[in-house]
Amino acid sequence: MTRHATITGVGSVLPPRLVPNAWFEDKVETSDEWIRERTGIEARHFADDGVVTSDLAVEAARIALATAGITAEQVDLIVCASVTGDTPFPATAVWIQQKLGLSCPAFDVNAACAGFSYGLATATGFVQAGMADTVLLIGAEVFSRILDFHDRQTCVLFGDGAGATVIQAADRPGIEGTVLGADGTAAEILIMPGGGSREPATVDSVAAQRHRIQMPNGREVFKRAVTEMAASCREVLEKNGHTTEDVDLLIPHQANARIMTAVAERLHIPPEKAVIDVSDVGNTSAASIPIALDRAYRAGRMHEGDLVVFTSFGAGLTWGATAMRWTMPGVTT
Ligand code: ACO
Repeated sequence: MTRHATITGVGSVLPPRLVPNAWFEDKVETSDEWIRERTGIEARHFADDGVVTSDLAVEAARIALATAGITAEQVDLIVCASVTGDTPFPATAVWIQQKLGLSCPAFDVNAACAGFSYGLATATGFVQAGMADTVLLIGAEVFSRILDFHDRQTCVLFGDGAGATVIQAADRPGIEGTVLGADGTAAEILIMPGGGSREPATVDSVAAQRHRIQMPNGREVFKRAVTEMAASCREVLEKNGHTTEDVDLLIPHQANARIMTAVAERLHIPPEKAVIDVSDVGNTSAASIPIALDRAYRAGRMHEGDLVVFTSFGAGLTWGATAMRWTMPGVTT
């Protein structure tokens, strides 16, 4: 009998410190108006000093475990999607495992803002192959630590946060399928160049801001994001016997309201069926889809049996889309 996988728990956390657009006005030449108009972002949350990625991840994980009605001891794999982990190694998933007091396997997935899609494909595969019954998949970022607060093109876009999901074996397909893509020829257009074997950390590399995000061509990123997210949604829908008209809820990577609106328009999905929830969150990279999912769930926007599509795009370039039938009962409180 085919083993299926579905999402049985969701949770998210944003650090308490809310940073409005106006905060950037005395750091770089920008304005609240420009940021709102071009991105839909009004504020984002930044973690306080000393708070690390796994702290946010564990908080979100505990909420997701509670909504799934299971204990942490039932988890038999932890997958963390992040590009701003606690340490270059070991994996952030290992720090999460330590904080949850578990002994199961744990590893990270690095696909930048597409990390949740890659992680979801991984978690689904483990469950379907019978290698795990219960996977804790977390997207978590403390992006504020790698922002260059001299660069107006990037520093206004990102925020910190974590979103967690519990993926479990099921007798019917919640998760129907995921498609993934990557284009390494465009690797340089969204990059943190320093800190790896190519440019190990030196006093000079740190002074030159090489350990912070760079996005030399935001316009190209915008265009590719719209093209690849729309195409991957069409592909995953077609592969699973659906059309875009069947979609009940589209949850795109929350990069920018204009990107998300353009993806929905290309797919002829009406705006009320798209979750655009970036205004007080910003772009939280790998955490953005599970945060948006959790907030949509708690806002009563997800109903059992709904056809839900997640789609993401990020550095690499990388992208993906998942089609699923929502199987969690609605929120009743
Ligand atoms: N404040 C004021 N002006 C700015 C700012 C800012 N924060 N940032 C850029 N500008 C300026 C530019 O320097 C440029 O000035 P110029 O004409 O004098 O050269 C002008 O605004 C227009 O720049 P564009 O890049 O053409 O502006 P655009 O309308 O494309 O918006 C933006 C820029 C918001 C970055 C857009 O390109 C975008 O959203 N790109 C995708 C970026 C993204 O989301 N990256 C996140 C990671 S990938 C992902 O998550 C999908």
